[in-house]
Amino acid sequence: MTTPYEPTTISLSLRVWRQIGQPQTNGHPGGPSQDGARQLGAAQSGGFETHQLDNLSTNLSLLEALDLLNDRLITAGQRPISFEHDCREGICGSCGFLVNGQAHGPRAATTVCQLYLRHFRDGDTLELEPWRAKAFPLLADLMVDRGGFDRIIAAGGYCSVNTGNAPEANAILIGKEQATSSFDAATCIGCGACVASCRHASASLFVAAKLAHLGQLPQGQPERARRARAMVDQMDAEGFGACSNHLECEAACPKEIAADWISWMRRELGRS
Ligand code: SF4
Ligand code: FES
Repeated sequence: MTTPYEPTTISLSLRVWRQIGQPQTNGHPGGPSQDGARQLGAAQSGGFETHQLDNLSTNLSLLEALDLLNDRLITAGQRPISFEHDCREGICGSCGFLVNGQAHGPRAATTVCQLYLRHFRDGDTLELEPWRAKAFPLLADLMVDRGGFDRIIAAGGYCSVNTGNAPEANAILIGKEQATSSFDAATCIGCGACVASCRHASASLFVAAKLAHLGQLPQGQPERARRARAMVDQMDAEGFGACSNHLECEAACPKEIAADWISWMRRELGRS
C-alpha cells in the first residue's frame, strides 16, 4: 500500500508546440523581446513535437519534467524548449501555457508551476501550447511577449502631483473590509491566463484587478478617473479584445480574481 508521501512513477507523452516567433517591436524597437527573438534565429512556422518521458517521480512538477526533457535535448545537441518561469511557487506570474487546451492546466486556482505529475494519470498525453492571443506575440515555443501588460501598467502612470516623501505607512487608516477587498484584487500576478482563455483575448480581468487594487484605497484617489481611462485605452491600443462576458477569465485565473471587478471597472470609466 502506498502512503500519500511515497513517490511513485509515471510515464507521460508530451506534445509540445515548437516555434520561433517573429521579432516583435510593438513600437519599442530594441526592447527585450526583440533581442530575445533575434538570439533564437529566424522565425519559423510551428508544429507539435512529441517526447516520451518514462519513470518520472510523481513528486516532480511539470516544469521539472520539462527541465529534464531540456537536459536530454541539450545533451543531444538540440534546441531546448523555451518556457518562462521564476518563483515556481505560484506568486510571480512568470509561468503560463496551455495544458490540454486549459490555461495553467486542469486544476483550479493553480499556476502551471504548481502542477505536479501526481495530478496526471500514468500514460497520459499532455499537449503544451503557448498563450494564443494577438496581443501576446509568440517569442518561442511556450513563451510569449506579455509586454502589453507592462505598457498598460505604465499607462496608468504615477500621481503627477508632488507629494513629497513617502508617508509613514500607518498614517492613513484603512478599514478592514476596504483593505481586504483591495488585497483580493492585488493578488493578480499578471500571468495572462485570463487573456488566453477569453475568446476575444480580452485583458479586462487583468486591467480591472489592477484598477481595483489602488482605486479602493485612499492613496489611489488622486487622478483615479484619468488612470482608468488611460489603462483601458492602452488595453485597446495593444490589440486586446473586448470582454466577451463568458467569464472564462474568472474560471482560468489562478488567483481567483472575480469577474465582478470588470463591472467595477466599467463604473470607473463612467467617472472619466
Ligand atoms: S486576473 Fe488572474 S489570470 Fe488574469 S493576469 Fe491576473 S492572475 Fe493572471
Ligand atoms: S513561476 Fe512564478 S508563478 Fe509560476
